[in-house]
Amino acid sequence: MKQAARAARAEGRLVGLVPTMGALHEGHLSLVRAALGQCQTVAVSIFVNPAQFGPHEDLSRYPRAMEKDAALLEQLGVHYLFAPQPAEIYPGGFRTYVHVESWSERLEGRSRPGHFRGVTTVVLKLLEIVQPHFAYFGRKDAQQARLVRQMVCDLNLDTEIVVRPIVREADGLAMSSRNAYLNRDERRAATVLHRALDAVRREITGGERDTQHLQAAMRKVLDAEPLASTDYAEIVDAETLEPVTRLRRSCLVLLAVFVGTTRLIDNLLVEEDAGKPGEFGVSL
Ligand code: PAJ
Repeated sequence: MKQAARAARAEGRLVGLVPTMGALHEGHLSLVRAALGQCQTVAVSIFVNPAQFGPHEDLSRYPRAMEKDAALLEQLGVHYLFAPQPAEIYPGGFRTYVHVESWSERLEGRSRPGHFRGVTTVVLKLLEIVQPHFAYFGRKDAQQARLVRQMVCDLNLDTEIVVRPIVREADGLAMSSRNAYLNRDERRAATVLHRALDAVRREITGGERDTQHLQAAMRKVLDAEPLASTDYAEIVDAETLEPVTRLRRSCLVLLAVFVGTTRLIDNLLVEEDAGKPGEFGVSL
């Protein structure tokens, strides 16, 4: 992979990388298409990264579909599929991790200790191997994208991080490999994340700016769904990830909800209109 990427760069081709854990869906494929639109050589990595799963999480049952994924990527015209084995990424004696301080322990990190240390370490390794001009991430994992962007800045990496919109099912559920864990009733209940975010969107469109009121609107929807239990529902500054009391600049409404035993995340991006202070655009 290093040689192939180096050769592409030497030929003056723009190189793009899309890191994934496979079981590809339209969310992943939207990143691949963005990469293909911008770069002449595109690599997609598929690696179910053991370092980002907690001891009691779903590493062993995480969906794997390598042949189907490879066929999809080939069809789209992806140049390289990089699918290393765990022992290649973490050979015996591996002992160097990268950690984005304090942010790694908030929100997702509070519920999943060590998760982001595993994410940033593997993403750094992938960026070092491929040294892409661009690397593509989904806003579905907004905190992850923010941490990766910070790591790239802090470590002076020569990759531009591109963050793409959330791709959803027809009923609003954000696409996720983990949606495959849901049974029929849970699948129906899982729309509660989107419904809660949509309630916040409507409040904002109606003029509400106070995050306590927005939180209440969101909680009302979440609490009404018997199959769901909320892990966190927070409104934070999109740059600093600090909680805010009133909407400002750019904010994220971040949700993590258990539906049955499956933990799902989703978010809403709220951005102040540069030309009209106090006016906000909302992206689901
Ligand atoms: P994975 O969950 O496979 O996601 C790979 C990329 O696809 C991430 O950037 C994620 O945000 C994006 N993605 C997932 N669902 C999406 C959706 N519905 N719409 C848009 N983008 C979506 O995230 C990981 O893997 C791993 O943590 C990884 C970065 C590969 C490191 O191991």
